[in-house]
Amino acid sequence: MDRQKKETVREPYGLYHGRRLPQEDAELTHVGPETPCGEYMRRFWQPVAMTSELGELPVAVRILGEDLVVFRDKSGRVGLLDRHCCHRGTSLEYGIVEDRGIRCCYHSWKFDVDGTILETPGEPADSKIKDKTFQGAYPALEFGGLVFAYMGPPALKPAFPTYDVFDQPDNRMVPYSLTYPCNWLQIFENAMDPAHGVFLHTRVNFEHFSPAWGELPVTEFRETPLGMIYITSRRIDDLVWVRMNDIMLPNVVQAGAIWEAGTRRKAFTRAGLTRWTVPIDDTHSLVIGVRHFNDGVNDPEGRSIEAECGKEKVDFLGQTGERPYEERQRVPGDFDAQVSQRPIALHALEHLGTTDRGVSMLRRIVRKGIRAVADGQEPDCVRGAPGTVISTNCQDSVVRVPARTERDDEIALRDVGRAIARIVVDEDNGVGRERLHRVAERIAALSEPAVASAAE
Ligand code: FES
Ligand SMILES: [Fe+2]
Repeated sequence: MDRQKKETVREPYGLYHGRRLPQEDAELTHVGPETPCGEYMRRFWQPVAMTSELGELPVAVRILGEDLVVFRDKSGRVGLLDRHCCHRGTSLEYGIVEDRGIRCCYHSWKFDVDGTILETPGEPADSKIKDKTFQGAYPALEFGGLVFAYMGPPALKPAFPTYDVFDQPDNRMVPYSLTYPCNWLQIFENAMDPAHGVFLHTRVNFEHFSPAWGELPVTEFRETPLGMIYITSRRIDDLVWVRMNDIMLPNVVQAGAIWEAGTRRKAFTRAGLTRWTVPIDDTHSLVIGVRHFNDGVNDPEGRSIEAECGKEKVDFLGQTGERPYEERQRVPGDFDAQVSQRPIALHALEHLGTTDRGVSMLRRIVRKGIRAVADGQEPDCVRGAPGTVISTNCQDSVVRVPARTERDDEIALRDVGRAIARIVVDEDNGVGRERLHRVAERIAALSEPAVASAAE
């Protein structure tokens, strides 16, 4: 039997004919060592913990199906080591963090952050074990309150990617980390499914964020040098709210101002969050990143709360399994929708529609990256380079464009979205803060001038 074959029920009361479960798409969903997707993921820096988790005790983590331990030694350096001691396998989560490195509890072998064996105290003084052997280690660094690791081939380690959103005026980045008991891809692809904002987040029970989310937007998807974006354009009276969410391959998403209501003109406010979906293993994921707090993206009604972001918590509805089950049934959120797609969503059982074009595109570009790496090539997307800042695309703008009759209005919405995408993605080659102002000015100028000046 072809286990990828689609099973479709084609008659009422027909589940008897649709009970067989096909296999998951292993190429996109399996992430352990030497799997195609796992090797692709390992070619990028990945966050593995928040720095606030590193106290005086080591922390056991599991990333891409590998059991590791992360710690900060007493001289302040971060180490990410194979969890099992290379002597006889005891877990270093029971190790003793020292001034330099970590010491295994069982026979006191001591390891530096790069895996160098510093001491084997029970062995004779002339023992050569420590000269010939290392504890397994991966490079790690800290940025923005997160610990990042590079778990790929040492000779191919890329520079850490510095995204423009990391340096914005008056912006505070607050780290957070959530655990999802499901495969990474179904979490990640939610970012290119703006239709769920209309239904899950608004129409199905109540407005999780703002009424504007319930407007079915004119939606387009585009590939970018970084990955892809969606462009959604919504009509709110005489205003048009255009949002672009960013995918930076292989697993980073940026989403705009979370509670955006689209009722006030604004131009080029940036990401509300920059977030990685890091596989723990095939059926568990770390949703980890930073929330951005600044006047451009904060909720005017005060629902953006820094203190509500951290370990297993973030300041907007439905992102964890911590709420009571009945409440999650009555008001389900992203966590409930995504985790309940099964431990690994089965693509062969899906019936994709027009709202799923972004999901299909995302799977296609991820698969392309996986195959490129499997073929011995470099990943085909912008990655970090020393001294460079990567311009990203995520933004919200609200411009004044008076409503037209129905069909014409749909075209007007699409055109405004395209015009903004052109400014942000295609035409502006600047970087950093200078780009912020220039792009904002150009987007603001899209407002229809006669109406705009009369309204201001
Ligand atoms: S098992 Fe770690 S020192 Fe022996
Ligand atoms: Fe969502």
